[in-house]
Amino acid sequence: MGRSPFLDRSIIVTGASSGLGRAMALDLTKAGAKVSLLARRVNLLDALEMEIRSMGGQVQSVPADVADWPSMREAVQQVETVFGPTDILIANAGVGAPSPLEAEAHVREIGSMIRINTLGVVHSFASVLPGMLRRGKGHLVAISSLAAYISFAGEGGYSASKAAVNAYTASIREQVRPKGILVSTICPGFIKTPMTAGNHGAMPGVMSAEKASQKILAALAQGREVYNFPLGTVALLGLLRCLPGWMLRRIMTDLGESKAD
Ligand SMILES: NC(=O)c1ccc[n+]([C@@H]2O[C@H](COP(=O)([O-])OP(=O)(O)OC[C@H]3O[C@@H](n4cnc5c(N)ncnc54)[C@H](OP(=O)(O)O)[C@@H]3O)[C@@H](O)[C@H]2O)c1
Repeated sequence: MGRSPFLDRSIIVTGASSGLGRAMALDLTKAGAKVSLLARRVNLLDALEMEIRSMGGQVQSVPADVADWPSMREAVQQVETVFGPTDILIANAGVGAPSPLEAEAHVREIGSMIRINTLGVVHSFASVLPGMLRRGKGHLVAISSLAAYISFAGEGGYSASKAAVNAYTASIREQVRPKGILVSTICPGFIKTPMTAGNHGAMPGVMSAEKASQKILAALAQGREVYNFPLGTVALLGLLRCLPGWMLRRIMTDLGESKAD
């Protein structure tokens, strides 16, 4: 067996208290990384930290709200005091909710997704960028979504927040590549996590958080800059985007109408 590319790397995972972040944190510690778990729910972080310690993994947990820049900046300072410079930052924290039409809820829900999903990535990257620029190396990872490429009725806020992540990371990737820093944009399809637990609609190609984690970590180890998966859902998306407008509208409305009250 070859040497793990994550061995002794200091890796921050935001949104590590649940779902995909939790699965990636577990896999990374098994691969020998020093993993820092960030999220808001301290009880869940503590439980995961204990679980990883009991397996002999190197771990620490630090409460942080990615939507709040000072909170994120201070959390990373705390992380680096213990584990040293950050090698890889995985900006995974995110929320998904329908975009209702009632004005107050419309502003509240979409605002929350933009603050957490989009600004959360900006804050996470900014918190480690100065150090990575100084050292001339590092890997910034954003967990976006295939929803960045298509917008179903009632899902406008979520898709907009992820499309903005793709635009932001595509640009910053070019800015920092000459300085030795790699930026990866990861766009998964449906994953079985608490985020999708209440989703009763069709979820083509849905996979477990463990499977998604393994696919993402393999892509990161290969240094992939953009990784869209699974292939079947990516192909389906490509097909949907080729359909005439009226047909696409019909399908998107049917798919989205249960969420778009
Ligand atoms: N599930 C899917 O089908 C799917 C598909 C494509 C992409 N994704 C993306 O994958 C990522 C992980 O989602 P998931 O499915 O694993 O959902 P999840 O189980 O609901 O986990 C979301 C994580 O984000 C954290 N989080 C939310 N708001 C936060 C904030 N303000 N500050 C810090 N942490 C915050 C949550 O922790 P706390 O509540 O403890 O803070 C939790 O650990 C998200 O970016 C999501 O958009 C998911």
